[in-house]
Amino acid sequence: MKRLSPRLALTATMLLSTQFAQAQTRLHEHSVAATGKTLAMRVCWTCHVVASDQPFAPMLNQPAPSFADIANRSNTSASALRRFLTKTHWDEATIPMSMPGMMLTDDQVGAVSAYILSLRKRP
Ligand code: HEC
Repeated sequence: MKRLSPRLALTATMLLSTQFAQAQTRLHEHSVAATGKTLAMRVCWTCHVVASDQPFAPMLNQPAPSFADIANRSNTSASALRRFLTKTHWDEATIPMSMPGMMLTDDQVGAVSAYILSLRKRP
């Protein structure tokens, strides 16, 4: 049997480990987004359509934008979501359509943002 040259073996190992790392990253992103979906199903759905399989419709007369709509806006990004979710607060000037501050932890902001971004339609 022909032996693999050390250089080829090294290249193959590097390629495999890069692919493994990429697969792990995708898996991690997927589970962060899944955590975000669970959170959204518990605290955001009263005002937003957060997922097509949510058990109840939002309760606002004028529902807030759906997460799918927010995800597909051209200016939506992880940093824009973080800014909104950490800085927003209920404002008397914009009654009745203003979102209260949700008092999320840093991890929760990351998870729910990852979930929203996962709803973006791939071109
Ligand atoms: C009490 C109702 C209510 C709840 C609960 C609520 N939202 Fe909202 N949200 C709104 C309304 C109303 C708007 C649109 C007006 C505004 O931007 O304040 C909005 C807008 C948004 C936007 C769009 C911001 C932009 O840039 O236009 C995001 C993102 C968002 N909400 C995320 C969330 C997340 C995540 C949760 C749960 C952790 C949540 N919302 C819970 C009412 C709510």
